Amino acid sequence: MHTGCSSDQVAILSERVSIHGQWSSRLMFVLAATGSAVGLGNIWKFPYITGENGGGAFVLVYLLSIALIGIPIMVAEVSIGRRGRQSPVNALRALAQDDGGSRFWWLVGFLGIVTCLLILSFYSVIAGCALAYVLRTAGGVFRGVTASGAESIFSGLISDPEKLLAWHTLFMIMTLGVVARGVRSGLEQAVRFLMPMLFLMLLLLVILGYQLHFESFMKGVRFMFLPDFDALTANGILVAMGHAFFTLSLGMGAMMVYGSYLPAGISIFRASFFIALVDTLVALMAGLAIFPMVFASELGTGSGPGLIFQTLPIAFGQIPGGRWVGTLFFVLLVFASLTSAISLLEPAVAWLVENRGIQRIRATVLVGSVSWVLGVITILSLGPWAFGFQFAGESRSKGLFDIMDVLTSVIMLPVGGLAVALLAGWVLSRARTVAELGGREGVAFWLWYLTIRYVTPVSLIAVFLHAIGVI
Ligand code: PHE
Repeated sequence: MHTGCSSDQVAILSERVSIHGQWSSRLMFVLAATGSAVGLGNIWKFPYITGENGGGAFVLVYLLSIALIGIPIMVAEVSIGRRGRQSPVNALRALAQDDGGSRFWWLVGFLGIVTCLLILSFYSVIAGCALAYVLRTAGGVFRGVTASGAESIFSGLISDPEKLLAWHTLFMIMTLGVVARGVRSGLEQAVRFLMPMLFLMLLLLVILGYQLHFESFMKGVRFMFLPDFDALTANGILVAMGHAFFTLSLGMGAMMVYGSYLPAGISIFRASFFIALVDTLVALMAGLAIFPMVFASELGTGSGPGLIFQTLPIAFGQIPGGRWVGTLFFVLLVFASLTSAISLLEPAVAWLVENRGIQRIRATVLVGSVSWVLGVITILSLGPWAFGFQFAGESRSKGLFDIMDVLTSVIMLPVGGLAVALLAGWVLSRARTVAELGGREGVAFWLWYLTIRYVTPVSLIAVFLHAIGVI
């Protein structure tokens, strides 16, 4: 990554310097990692899976997963990345071997690369929808729109493969453009100014919901924060846990590769905690912006992946100046998606540069193209190829899109995360980990170490066993 420092640094692996450069400052790392974490996962996915899984109890499991699984794994990934100073594939191999473990840990990095490609493929299609909504909102399509109007505008988009293909292609080109140009300048600005703006916009929407539809707003608050454990299924627990990985960009190497560009001497604990906090706040605010609209209209909480595209336009259509507020919102959403999409490319690109000697720009185009092709499958499965199937007792209707979603969020990310937890807790030398995490075996270290060693793996395994009906 052209992250600031000279990209012509030489790899001196004994002293472990990343050949891809380094973040220019701690702030840059925090900004980039926050940019990776905050994205469609918070604003598009969190509200609709909360809606589908009954609200409060699901949110509680999600928050617990962030605290007990997400934050500890983020600390582990960033510290492994920084110690390894290479792409996840090579960092995992090198560290495990240094500390007397098997060299086959690189397979975990490789699984991560495959996961990235799969996620990027559908991520780009959804981000393409957000792009399409920039134009639609700016064009004034949503003025005074009703819930059924918003629904039919959305289904008009997703059932038209040609339109989706065009938007998906445009988003992928934008992503490749950012990565190829060198992310530093663009990324820094995007995250430093646009993220707080997105945050303010969400706040504005929450306040608006409160003022326009007080009763529905309170319904929304109760739905999100009053746990109804009867509404929570085994599948719901699995989805909440998987989402903790997705939303924090964990389990596939993104945080690890960002950690590999992190200068020494920065508190990984503090940075991880901050990133998780911001990410969670953004998700909760998105929920609070959306659910009042759901209850104020005849839309159901279980509307699925179209939820934000069907609710927010109604709000934009009702307020004065909503056309421009809405346009700005979707522009910001596209930026948030871009800063996440680039981190989905990075593990694969770093690996191709290191192991295949491919130039950075070529590697980027190669990885992007593979994901683009896979994205076409998602597009077709939203329309002409749609078919239904059952998973963990739930029926799903969007064929390959759903399969890709389940495969990545519910299976591959948690499996990758479990492997990282086991590596950090049981294989890597504790002394070296302590050194990487600030050099002191204080309370923070022990809290983290015991969690990653016992609590994280046991919770992960328990959730899996629960989902397949063993416990
Ligand atoms: N965390 C991103 C989001 O919430 C998605 C993502 C997942 C990015 C995995 C990188 C890796 O939108």
